[in-house]
Amino acid sequence: MAIKRPEYILAIDQGTTGTRAIVFNHNARRVTSASVPMTLITPQPGWLEQQPLDIWHATQTAIADALINAGIRGDEIKALGIANQRETTIIWDRHTGQPIYNAVSWSSTQSQEIAQEIADDADKTELIRQKTGLPISAYFSATKIRWILDNVPDSQAAAERGDLLFGTVDTWLTWQLTDGAVHATDATNAARTMLYNIHTQEWDEELLALFNIPATMLPKVHKSSEVIGHTSPMTFFGGRVPIASVIGDQNASMVGQLAFEKGMVKNTYGAGAFMIMNTGDQPVVSNNRLVTTIAYQVEDQPVYALEGSIFSAGTAIQWLHERLDMIDTQLDAWMLAEDSKNHNEVYVVPAFNGLGAPYWDPHVQGTVFGMTRGTNKADFVKATLQSIAYQTADILDVMKKDSGYALATMKADGSVSRNPYLMQFQADIAHVAIERSLDEDATPMGAAFLAGLAVGYWRDLSDLEQYIQAGRHFEPELPEEKRKQLHHGWQAAIKATQYFGE
Ligand code: G3P
Repeated sequence: MAIKRPEYILAIDQGTTGTRAIVFNHNARRVTSASVPMTLITPQPGWLEQQPLDIWHATQTAIADALINAGIRGDEIKALGIANQRETTIIWDRHTGQPIYNAVSWSSTQSQEIAQEIADDADKTELIRQKTGLPISAYFSATKIRWILDNVPDSQAAAERGDLLFGTVDTWLTWQLTDGAVHATDATNAARTMLYNIHTQEWDEELLALFNIPATMLPKVHKSSEVIGHTSPMTFFGGRVPIASVIGDQNASMVGQLAFEKGMVKNTYGAGAFMIMNTGDQPVVSNNRLVTTIAYQVEDQPVYALEGSIFSAGTAIQWLHERLDMIDTQLDAWMLAEDSKNHNEVYVVPAFNGLGAPYWDPHVQGTVFGMTRGTNKADFVKATLQSIAYQTADILDVMKKDSGYALATMKADGSVSRNPYLMQFQADIAHVAIERSLDEDATPMGAAFLAGLAVGYWRDLSDLEQYIQAGRHFEPELPEEKRKQLHHGWQAAIKATQYFGE
């Protein structure tokens, strides 16, 4: 009798700072992985770009390294799932495959003027909010598309002739993996463009006209768990592997964290931090400047979410290392924070690219308050870690108001969540119990789950529960009086930061 060869699911996790390929087995265990760091281009302060071909080559290298390391053949991959940095915008020529400009990163502020012009018009702002669930911000793709078409000579005319294609990174990678045969995305990525109507689930003609973007540029929108094409033998050395899931990375981690019930919240602490609450089959309109969006879509009906995005989380820790030379490793950040003896009088507001939710202030820059002659490195590092927790607490607070849910627990994942000081302070300052995932990488796991579901590798979402073990739990311990006092100081720091930004 022939021995059945093993089958695996391959997840690609393409983020701002790195591209990873991770192979999972049927028990949802990681069999092998490889990662490639990404090069960032900063042509001007506040701008952030990447080379689209660099993103594609890094993806190929990561896949090849992962498979070769473990001796896994391409034809042993049952399906492939992609989790990607969202909003990042790429436009390319459909005939030559050549990008017409760099990928404009989600956190890049070069389209700020375009966003501001729309934000100054109350009717347009309301129209966009109603249809897409999004506040006006240069964060989302539409203003980035507009910026590229305004700044690359002849590109508007080429777009109108139907010669150009737009895609977020998932679309770009799918197009490359299928050797140009498939131009597609999923609902979670579409929902971040500012062009997708999250209620009717289609590209919105009125919004396309508002931004003067031809519909022919846009990819076909699919569910997050669905075979949308097959890899081409030309581009993937294993031949025809089904691309069975495409989903935004922050949404993928929600699936990886099994946050399938209404009212569940997860926060992924990476370069930014992205807190998403499952609101079930109904979109919840925020009165507090949170984003209404699509959490994931497995059935015809999407699961909706409320989201708060923090632009600088891990980036602030990286800044301590790269620019201030205060720490070498994540471990240093933890140890120094524990060493700090001050009474939390220092507040760092890391508004490197303005502030995201719930403040949405693109004009502000970073600030530091409350330093004394006695302030030392440990205090500074601690204050930087605390800034991540304060921003999270502010979002959690308005999420409670918008949703009406009590939110006694929050799921945490991402590399920065490995810092126990941050997790305990988070529990204390937000007064919420934290369930930290055992594996920091909920994102690739989510993409793998969704791909596996689409090809029958796993049966249904509840089938996955048996594979995920609980991680560490953090309970709030800080007395309420102290919590209020600390948070009051943070609010004053935010106010003062906004004052300086005016
Ligand atoms: O919305 C932006 C987010 O998807 C960025 O992800 O991987 O660059 O932290 P990442």
